[in-house]
Amino acid sequence: MQNINGARLTFKGHTYSLPVIKSTMGPDAIDVRDLHEHIGVIAYDPGLISTALCSSEISFIDGDKGELFYRGYPIEQLATHCDYLETCYLIKNGELPTATQYDEYVTTVKRHTMVHEQLMRLYQGFRRDAHPMAILVGVVGALSAYYQDSLDITNPEHRLLAATRLVAKMPTIVAMAYKYTVGQPFMYPRNELNYAENFLHMMFATPCGPYTPNPVLARALDRILILHADHEQNASTSTVRLSGSSGANPYACIASGIACLWGPAHGGANEACLNMLFDIQKQGGVEKIGEFIKQVKDKDSNTKLMGFGHRVYKNFDPRATLMRETCHEVLNELGLQNDPLFKLALELERIALEDDYFVSRKLYPNVDFYSGIVQKAIGIPVQLFTGIFAMARTIGWIAQWNEMIHDPEQKIGRPRQLYVGAQRRGVVPLKLRRNTMN
Ligand SMILES: CC(C)(COP(=O)(O)OP(=O)(O)OC[C@H]1O[C@@H](n2cnc3c(N)ncnc32)[C@H](O)[C@@H]1OP(=O)(O)O)[C@@H](O)C(=O)NCCC(=O)NCCS
Repeated sequence: MQNINGARLTFKGHTYSLPVIKSTMGPDAIDVRDLHEHIGVIAYDPGLISTALCSSEISFIDGDKGELFYRGYPIEQLATHCDYLETCYLIKNGELPTATQYDEYVTTVKRHTMVHEQLMRLYQGFRRDAHPMAILVGVVGALSAYYQDSLDITNPEHRLLAATRLVAKMPTIVAMAYKYTVGQPFMYPRNELNYAENFLHMMFATPCGPYTPNPVLARALDRILILHADHEQNASTSTVRLSGSSGANPYACIASGIACLWGPAHGGANEACLNMLFDIQKQGGVEKIGEFIKQVKDKDSNTKLMGFGHRVYKNFDPRATLMRETCHEVLNELGLQNDPLFKLALELERIALEDDYFVSRKLYPNVDFYSGIVQKAIGIPVQLFTGIFAMARTIGWIAQWNEMIHDPEQKIGRPRQLYVGAQRRGVVPLKLRRNTMN
């Protein structure tokens, strides 16, 4: 990292010089690490909107231009030319694999797709109607009890093994969460299938008959996985880093990321989007879109058009463009263009893209708008959408965790606070306290 002396801070009559750290893309950073020690103040930044928690080489978003890069490669090129495991290799190692490296990586991942037989029994402890994310938080955290041979975070081989296991086992664990809730037997992975095909097999096959994954649907799923593989220092990724900063094991750290992803403001958005479509459908469908849009524009209604807008992208979300293409491919493949729910979604998209309220605020459909529709068409239950996101993001989380462990500047995360509570005061003994209160 290149330091330059750039920023000056004047406080209480003194001027201090603060180093500026250069980025390769995006804004440079003012280094405020010594603020407290040298100047006696702290930085106040709720939600860390203007604060870099770390330096990272993994992914980069240009929100104004609507661009996303993994290791410098634009997402459009990766989604067009690569598959998910190629993308995982890139995110983890920094470079795209050669053909030999790719084959080796795929073989290694396939060797780890099964889970410990005893882990399967863990599922029986959950209610059948448990939310899959509740199951995933528990089961992924529990992996640390099954794979104790890879918990030494200072050992690069252990870290590699944990990373491979997590990427390999997530589809199995997610599919098992689904099978458990519908009361069907767990399906073992089939290693002659590719990553996405194998997931579809574990989700939709039963022991009663043959199942051949549809290649268009497998490719669509693979694209969903690529598009969700990493996204800078978002809430769940920062959670993984913060958990890992204390030296916690990788399985526990990824479980903490899954817990954070569960929230409707993060990974739960595509579930919320589909639920919104169901609601409009119940109220009368396409004819009711006008009324719904009116409600969205009324600030007092507290209604948002789910799947529109993004905190970072103030232009088209590049992932949405790709997912839109996939959405049409999947609906055509399944002959669902005239399905009322999908017609409703496409009509909502058309109207919102022409409406001045959305256009003037640069509110475009985000990736969740289309990925929810695609997943619904594939047959994935709405409750499992966030689980698919967790499966895709596992590589990002583990790569970021690994980057953090390697970072010589890494410290245990310990944010400061601006204390605004009561000042020092004395305790009144209980028997006297009632008299002092109103
Ligand atoms: C993602 C989201 C939280 C970003 O919010 P944000 O960065 O605070 O958005 P902004 O403050 O820049 O919003 C600007 C304006 O657009 C409005 N707006 C933003 N998203 C909106 C939406 N989905 N529907 C209706 N109005 C919306 C805001 O009310 C605000 O209006 P105002 O200027 O009249 O006050 C927000 O767009 C949202 O809730 N979207 C729906 C949920 C969703 O799809 N989330 C997935 C994100 S991947």
